[in-house]
Amino acid sequence: MPQKIIIDTDPGVDDAMAIQFALNSPELEVLGLTTIYGNVSLELTTANALTLLEVAGRTDIPVAIGAAKPLNRPFGGGVAFVHGDDGLGNTFRPKSSLKAIDLSAIDFIIEQVKKYPNEITLVPLGPLTNMALALQKAPEIAELVKEVVIMGGNAFVPGNASPSGEANILNDPEAADLVFGANWPMTMIGLDVTESTLLTSKDAKEVRAASDSELNKLVCDAYVFYENFNTTNNKIDGSFLHDPSVLAYLVNPTIFSGGKYPLRVETQDGLSLGKTWPFIGDDDVLTRPASAPWRGRPAVNVMLEVDNERLVKLVMSRLR
Ligand code: RIB
Ligand code: CA
Repeated sequence: MPQKIIIDTDPGVDDAMAIQFALNSPELEVLGLTTIYGNVSLELTTANALTLLEVAGRTDIPVAIGAAKPLNRPFGGGVAFVHGDDGLGNTFRPKSSLKAIDLSAIDFIIEQVKKYPNEITLVPLGPLTNMALALQKAPEIAELVKEVVIMGGNAFVPGNASPSGEANILNDPEAADLVFGANWPMTMIGLDVTESTLLTSKDAKEVRAASDSELNKLVCDAYVFYENFNTTNNKIDGSFLHDPSVLAYLVNPTIFSGGKYPLRVETQDGLSLGKTWPFIGDDDVLTRPASAPWRGRPAVNVMLEVDNERLVKLVMSRLR
């Protein structure tokens, strides 16, 4: 039986690659996309989610609209310099004829998790605001999800949106801290693994040549802008596979390895805002006064190592 998933997404070029991966994976059943602000505005992430499904011919998959801003902070405006003004590499596709459903993202998540108890994996690829709002509205969903597997965070490496924070966490640190503290099975695919793997320009050319599907043409066109940012900004040959790495984990978790750590997120404004802080130590250490912020927090499955070759091979096989 395919794994039932709901992808919470801020497309976003690497989100688009992750959605393409999911739609091309028989191991996964996409119950819906829920949209969130992040790489660009909620209006654009929602439009892009609808466009991707329409181009893929998957009008059977609902799109539910989520939060337009963080829990207690203004939306920072997004990163058009990474994903393009339209969020899809300035491909400026015509507006999709598809419409989002009336149900909000929060209510869609709650409804589906209650309809399929212990079967659904929530896959947040953007800020964790929708996850936090769903938990606040229906705390019982923590006992009903199969797992939550996120793209976000940086345990033992620097941030990417600031020296401290990874973009999804830094966008809404309060939401992230709440979500990492919920009693649900959770896996973090963060920069510790996603910045150790590259899709090279040669790989990208191979992906484009592999399929003339409308979806592959759109994603590859959008990818050009994202690749240019990565090669010029990060001075690397290729791009990080942040969001597709999460879908690869769902299909083959053996490519990754890591450890279990209680996590906190810095929510105080200042140098360390948005930093994900893992607790390292045994129960003795946990009794020390300085360990108090981590006491009573569930351990999150934090991925720290990845087999780069197997990851790139798997991702390329699903970008069709
Ligand atoms: O830090 C990378 C993450 O932030 C990815 O999910 C990217 O799409 C952006 O949302
Ligand atoms: Ca994303």
